[in-house]
Amino acid sequence: MTEDRWVTASAPGKFVVLGEHSVVYGKPALVLATDRRITCSVRRSQRNSLNGEALDLWRQPHFQYLTRDMGYCLDFLTTSEIPSGSGMGSSAALSAALALAIRTERGEFPTELSLVEEAYGAELHAQGNGSPMDASACVHGGGIAVNIPEEKDELWTIRRGERTWKVSDIKTPDLSFVIGNTGIKAPTGPQVEKVRRYTKKSGFATDIIEEMGMLTMEGYKALKSGNKELLGRLMTQDHKLLSILGVSCKELNKLVYAALPYSYGAKLTGSGGGGCMVALTDEPDKVADIIRSRGGTPFIMKSGSEGARMEVGVAKGSPMEIPMI
Ligand code: PMV
Repeated sequence: MTEDRWVTASAPGKFVVLGEHSVVYGKPALVLATDRRITCSVRRSQRNSLNGEALDLWRQPHFQYLTRDMGYCLDFLTTSEIPSGSGMGSSAALSAALALAIRTERGEFPTELSLVEEAYGAELHAQGNGSPMDASACVHGGGIAVNIPEEKDELWTIRRGERTWKVSDIKTPDLSFVIGNTGIKAPTGPQVEKVRRYTKKSGFATDIIEEMGMLTMEGYKALKSGNKELLGRLMTQDHKLLSILGVSCKELNKLVYAALPYSYGAKLTGSGGGGCMVALTDEPDKVADIIRSRGGTPFIMKSGSEGARMEVGVAKGSPMEIPMI
């Protein structure tokens, strides 16, 4: 086989500034794409394979969904800079890159919206419930606001059941964020389900989600105007609300508290239960050092990276941990 038969695409990971979990209930959210990406190459083949091994689609729901209407098999090669099961959008980035590579291999020219629908469909197929926030951020890149009524730069609106998510592009000032990975892998589905059960049982949980929504609206104005003090305070407040919802853990709390003396604010990011926290800071190296000294892995983030795009060349096909469902 020659290399020129491969079709390659990549997509960025993301982190949530404010609004994870409450966004599942139609509340607002603010998300930034990161400079860490997943790259996928595909080519037609006699059997399905992933990084040189036979691929069992029944065990890989993202691949299963994205190849659902295909009459032939594919070889997949993947390379990831995004730790899986960590709240950095590894499964949405994989889905976005795969969707773009697969559609292009078929000779299509997919729109961003069609890629979001594909990637969101793959996420739902794998994790059962959730919002199109991650899929939108990983396809579009840059900065994304969900359900902010005054935001004019609308990209698309996605509906599912009684929920609606209006997704807009937001331009954000240059801010410096540090991510800290606890190293604890926590799949998204069970965390989302835990919050759903809590909201069914208790009006208290519904009030918290309501409060997170209001806080994110305030955070939107702070983010747009570059008011770091206010944005940081709201992030820390959001972490407390997420903790009450039951999606933090002691390792996340440890990294959040360690980062706070050198940060405007800090919180878990993504579905929680492990995975990553994020701090807004003017002292990224100091925060990175303190995260490292508490056993976490820091990443100094360049945010606002480009969304899903075609790539030249072929993914390395390094053994990739498939995002946990
Ligand atoms: O942990 P991640 O990267 O899958 O982020 C999940 C974000 C949630 O709001 C918890 C779920 C969702 O679908 O929006």
